[in-house]
Amino acid sequence: MSVADENNRDDEGREPQRTQVRLPVALKVVVVSTTLEVTESLLEMVETMTGASVEVIVGEIGGIDDSVLQHHNPDVLIADVRLESPTDLDRLRSIVQQAEADTCVIATAQTSSVEGVRRLMRLGISDFLPQPINRDDLMSALQHAARRVRQSRPSEGGHVITFLHAGGGAGATTLAVNCASSIKETNEKAKVCVLDLDVQFGQVAINLDLKGSHGVLDLLENPERLDAMFLESIMTHHKSGLDVLVAPDVLVALDAIEPELVVRVIEVAAELYDYVVIDMPLALTPWSQSVLGRSDVAVMVGQLTVPGIRQLRRLAGILTSDGVGDVRTLVVLNRFLGGWKTSIRPKEAEKVLGRPIDFLVANDFKIASQCIDQGVPLSEIKKRSTIHRNVAEMANGILSLLSEKHGASYLES
Ligand SMILES: Nc1ncnc2c1ncn2[C@@H]1O[C@H](COP(=O)(O)OP(=O)(O)OP(=O)(O)O)[C@@H](O)[C@H]1O
Ligand SMILES: [Mg+2]
Repeated sequence: MSVADENNRDDEGREPQRTQVRLPVALKVVVVSTTLEVTESLLEMVETMTGASVEVIVGEIGGIDDSVLQHHNPDVLIADVRLESPTDLDRLRSIVQQAEADTCVIATAQTSSVEGVRRLMRLGISDFLPQPINRDDLMSALQHAARRVRQSRPSEGGHVITFLHAGGGAGATTLAVNCASSIKETNEKAKVCVLDLDVQFGQVAINLDLKGSHGVLDLLENPERLDAMFLESIMTHHKSGLDVLVAPDVLVALDAIEPELVVRVIEVAAELYDYVVIDMPLALTPWSQSVLGRSDVAVMVGQLTVPGIRQLRRLAGILTSDGVGDVRTLVVLNRFLGGWKTSIRPKEAEKVLGRPIDFLVANDFKIASQCIDQGVPLSEIKKRSTIHRNVAEMANGILSLLSEKHGASYLES
């Protein structure tokens, strides 16, 4: 739930009809159609999806130039097809044949008889949208396209996402673990790891019910051995596909860790993994700045209370100081109670912070503790819960920020 959505609730507290959805990668959508209803509804729907831009070619698919893909370079081409027209079907076939792995061709038609859809699928299209086009169908087709585009783009080296918290128990570990799991779910092929750098009181192993005996302690005892092979050998594997570098189960002094070693661990992890999610301790350490300096995104987790927002403001100040590189920051308010149940409203908190709040995650102690008790991510407990939806929105927001940072800006057309 975004703050905009929260502020747009009506008097009865109902959510607005049209929530803005972020796609995990930027997509250029080109629509070929002569039907005003189709083009207008697509334009309207795509407008509610951050990350997608749309261009309309008014014309029949059978009549457009064969080189439409080269000229317009879409990630997604939506072709309005007349099933009874052999010219339309021939041209669609030829376009599908020319499409590279990172271009999805989607067909839409007025009739959606089983036989008609089968004929189109046999041409090799990625998806079919019956008319009138429905937003959920479009969303699911574009999510699918976004996953395909992401997989076919060459990896730029691992992205580093660091979770910090202002105030103990804000939920940073919960969000870090579930963000990692959500990224893995969105992008099955991606290699995702969690580094539990809360070296004194790390909880990631407990949250995921991991019994591994290796982790950060091996690193501290053998810093000279650190390379990709060594790091792989001290990772613990979770059944969800996540790898975890677990925190020591003995007390380690925070200043016993050299900043250079932490930076090196992150660098090696970023060679091995597409996404490196870091859970930081509450205390600021001599190596906190080094971690931030090597992070792409820093997620500050706090709670919507007066002391919680004051603590967040202090933390945000550190993130704008020198030595933290060009880390992008996000503010997430966790355990959000909603509406009248909070003493301070998100808009007021934004004023105190002097910056926007990016995501709100609902309070749901029952589901959060069930996850810990069973050692699994939220998605395995209750996918349809608000807390899971909020965490998935946050993870998608982080992915969007990363794709902007690495050149696939939403502003690009
Ligand atoms: N959205 C939520 N709704 C309800 N309970 C939550 C939520 N998020 C986390 N919790 C619960 O809050 C407690 C603290 O969570 P967590 O360990 O993730 O916080 P933390 O910020 O990492 O704390 P620490 O300061 O110990 O590192 C846990 O019991 C967890 O189950
Ligand atoms: Mg924690």
